[in-house]
Amino acid sequence: MKLASSLCYFAFLLTSVAVRGSDSQQVCTGTENKLSTLSDLEQQYRTLRKYYDSCEVVMGNLEITSIDRSRDLSFLRSIREVTGYVLVALNQFDYLPLENLRIIRGTRLYEDRYALAIFLNYRRDGNFGLRQLGLNNLTEILHGGVYVDKNKFLCHADTIHWQDIVKNARSDHLVVPSNSSSTCQRCQRVCNGRCWGPKESQCQSLTKTVCAEQCDGRCFGPYVSDCCHKECAGGCSGPKDTDCFACTNFNDSGACVTQCPQPFVYNPTTFQLEHNPRAKYTYGAFCVKKCPHNFVVDHSSCVRACPSNKMEVEENKIKMCIPCTDICPKACDGIGTASLQAAQTVDSSNIDRFINCTKINGNLVFLITGIKGDAYHHIEALDPEKLNVFRTVREITGKIIIHIYIYIYFI
Ligand SMILES: *[C@@H]1O[C@H](CO)[C@@H](O)[C@H](O)[C@H]1NC(C)=O
Ligand SMILES: *[C@@H]1O[C@H](CO)[C@@H](O)[C@H](O)[C@H]1NC(C)=O
Ligand SMILES: *[C@@H]1O[C@H](CO)[C@@H](O)[C@H](O)[C@H]1NC(C)=O
Ligand SMILES: *[C@@H]1O[C@H](CO)[C@@H](O)[C@H](O)[C@H]1NC(C)=O
Repeated sequence: MKLASSLCYFAFLLTSVAVRGSDSQQVCTGTENKLSTLSDLEQQYRTLRKYYDSCEVVMGNLEITSIDRSRDLSFLRSIREVTGYVLVALNQFDYLPLENLRIIRGTRLYEDRYALAIFLNYRRDGNFGLRQLGLNNLTEILHGGVYVDKNKFLCHADTIHWQDIVKNARSDHLVVPSNSSSTCQRCQRVCNGRCWGPKESQCQSLTKTVCAEQCDGRCFGPYVSDCCHKECAGGCSGPKDTDCFACTNFNDSGACVTQCPQPFVYNPTTFQLEHNPRAKYTYGAFCVKKCPHNFVVDHSSCVRACPSNKMEVEENKIKMCIPCTDICPKACDGIGTASLQAAQTVDSSNIDRFINCTKINGNLVFLITGIKGDAYHHIEALDPEKLNVFRTVREITGKIIIHIYIYIYFI
């Protein structure tokens, strides 16, 4: 257990580097741990804090689990967007300060269903737990449903109009409380019965179910002239694409757009595609002039790594993916070298390491024990079909050594 948790922590340190996108969004990567947690609650909290401190956009899932009662969670206030899901479970704190969270995109869902899952947030043998969802600004969930259940002390979640928040979730993917404890305070009168907490500033603002029929999305008032721009998500303060609270597709320096400015534009007078000096790359839901450090340009997007049919090259100090002619160069270790140091022969346990290799650094060795299998070392016989992997090899820096008899059967 100790080893596992140190490993987790180490992995966390490696991935927790927040990157500032070139349009100055503080972006962090999020996690995918579900309910598994570190055994040490102190470390669990420090890990969460380190991960999200001053993060604005979580490109991944926001998972808040097993945090004990009296922790300072105010750092969560910086988060405005989550691209995956939000999971809040097995905690004992009483308030969740995600006050500026505007949009959950739900590109990944918890249990393949929920973009927001909040459950079992109370101490079993105590009389405390989550009392208030501070999700005052949450007005959009683009994909997926909501699961808010088994929070013994939670107030006001039953007053929330969840249908106004979710874009088009299936009704059986909306599992939300229909009552709360009689000790809960009521919503302030100005909130018309819907609130996230007992204060006047905690009313739920409705941006969908209150719109004129003509709006096909969100609005900032009940009239036809109050429809938001169609690229807006979560609502808006006016009708323009720069008035949106969040963007459905891409944020191009504050304006919501369907597509980032493309690298080439068509000039109808010359009938030619021309280089677009204002081109930007797609980075998550943002358009950026430059991809962040550690990202590579693939066509007009920032990606973590090139797809398998492309290779990474650097041109004018920009790392990009270009298509490989024929097959992509790939150097692999030979038998007895580096990662295959201990191997003596190509066999069924290592043959897959040679898939797509064009160059072998070292030798290729074929012994009878590799081909026919080696019961002593629990190595199965090699499927002769698999030898086709070597078709892609063009260069071997060492030698090919074959120590077998080949029997050919004629029918
Ligand atoms: C929520 O959004 C509004 C704009 O609608 C903004 O004025 C406010 O500062 C945001 N944050 C909180 C904590 O309410
Ligand atoms: C809500 O109602 C259910 C059944 O109607 C009941 O079992 C539960 O105790 C109630 N919850 C609270 C917090 O009052
Ligand atoms: C767009 O991104 C900028 C930062 O680059 C941010 O200040 C702004 O709030 C974002 N707008 C929307 C609608 O998300
Ligand atoms: C080998 O290359 C093919 C085609 O480029 C690709 O689809 C496949 O995923 C690659 N396999 C491995 C193990 O790299």
